[in-house]
Amino acid sequence: MLVCHTINEIKSFIRQAASLGKTIGFVPTMGYFHAGHLALMSEAKKTCGVVVCSIFVNQLQFGPQEDFACYPRDIERDKRLAEEVGVDAIFIPSAEEMYPPRFSTFVETKKITDCLCGKSRPGHFRGVTTVVTKLFNIIQPNMAFFGQKDFQQAATIQRMVEDLNIEVKIVLVPTVRDKDGLALSSRNIYLKGAQRQAALNIPRSLALAAQAVENGERDPAKVKMAVCNKLTAEPLVEIDYVEIYSLPYLEEISLLQGEVLLAIAAKIGKTRLIDNLVLKVPDNGQSSPKR
Ligand code: PAF
Repeated sequence: MLVCHTINEIKSFIRQAASLGKTIGFVPTMGYFHAGHLALMSEAKKTCGVVVCSIFVNQLQFGPQEDFACYPRDIERDKRLAEEVGVDAIFIPSAEEMYPPRFSTFVETKKITDCLCGKSRPGHFRGVTTVVTKLFNIIQPNMAFFGQKDFQQAATIQRMVEDLNIEVKIVLVPTVRDKDGLALSSRNIYLKGAQRQAALNIPRSLALAAQAVENGERDPAKVKMAVCNKLTAEPLVEIDYVEIYSLPYLEEISLLQGEVLLAIAAKIGKTRLIDNLVLKVPDNGQSSPKR
């Protein structure tokens, strides 16, 4: 596996691969890999001739009170894991390489970022879309892979590539969960003792919502209320949001029908976790959760 720290190095690798007619699959990450990241890489491996992964903890997408400084990092382990799943090249730029001193251009997608994490974390998606645009311009991938856990992120990037005519296919890969149901996240490492157990109320409340819809509930307010009650039954859980939106544009709805997104963000101590479920609500009142 080739390890590149500069834009020139990775571009020359890409030029060579493209000249051999290989499809370029790209997995942008902030590192500290878990099975969720590796699933993105494996998916890319299945469909693309060459797989490139990036590791860059992007300060631009962290708020001033957020965990940029202590965001977990382990580059040596990441390199090993990426190589094991067959990544061909890994791009690990410095902050100066990505944001040189006179950097002053930003990419912002409106509307779809007005709700959920976009509302709770002002400026977050502007940081994401700016860095992802740069990475897309550098790597020029045919396909890019994003996890369903960050559903709004993937939806925002999809909006951005359509709006800006960026020629890349965005592939959404299902959330990978621990055996106990907790969605994998690099931030799970912050959970200590009883907090890990408390966090399980997040996937459990998603399951409860799926059950309610399966039992015929079609009022989003009632489903949200049931989820909130389940979450707050655990005193260590502090809800940021519980929302249900239509797909694919994340718009408010008053009736559950078709495909909808149920999204949760909650804090356990200082750790902010997100999770979601896409609910398929068939006309006959049956639902089947698609994770
Ligand atoms: O999902 C992430 O890890 C980041 O938001 C991304 C897409 C790599 C941009 O920094």
